[in-house]
Amino acid sequence: MTFKLPTLPFANNALEPWYDENTVIIHHTKHHQAYTDNLNKAIEEAKLEVNSIEDLLINVNDVDPQFRTRIINHGGGYYNHNFFWESLAPNASSKASETLIAAIEKKWASFDAFKEEFSAKALGHFGSGWAWLVLNKDKELEIIDTHDQVCPLTLGYQPLLTIDVWEHAYYIKYQNRRAEWISAFWNLVNYERVEERLNTALSK
Ligand SMILES: [Fe+2]
Repeated sequence: MTFKLPTLPFANNALEPWYDENTVIIHHTKHHQAYTDNLNKAIEEAKLEVNSIEDLLINVNDVDPQFRTRIINHGGGYYNHNFFWESLAPNASSKASETLIAAIEKKWASFDAFKEEFSAKALGHFGSGWAWLVLNKDKELEIIDTHDQVCPLTLGYQPLLTIDVWEHAYYIKYQNRRAEWISAFWNLVNYERVEERLNTALSK
């Protein structure tokens, strides 16, 4: 199985002014493309039979140790970026529904409290990685962070929302001001997609 770089679900400039066109193009066509190409090379060299990227990442500990780190890095990089792009939508095109707000407010004191904890996790992550809203094994909502390209699927979580806090995700526009990128991100969250993912994860 060969993976392909997915087409973005919006125009390159659709996330302006929160996420600039230049960053979107480089992030997608250089970084995401490189993960895609390196994943395909690793699969070919390891002679892996792959049914889906999800299966590969859930069962990555079964991969020959000689190739495992490459699959974690590039398979995670491929999946995490697919997931990231699909988590975004042009400004104000998507608001959290009452159903999603109610699910969030079962866990956090308010929707704002959830956003504050998610933002703090993203801001506090040391080095390269991701912050995630996930459903854990007990079907409870949880906020986690993962280092480099580790995917929550490998850790037994169902991912629902993510923000990329690698410097390549924000440095062109925001330089070292990660907090500004995180603040801008909240204008771009595709809440309809988050709710779809939550419903799918709850039904499993
Ligand atoms: Fe990235």
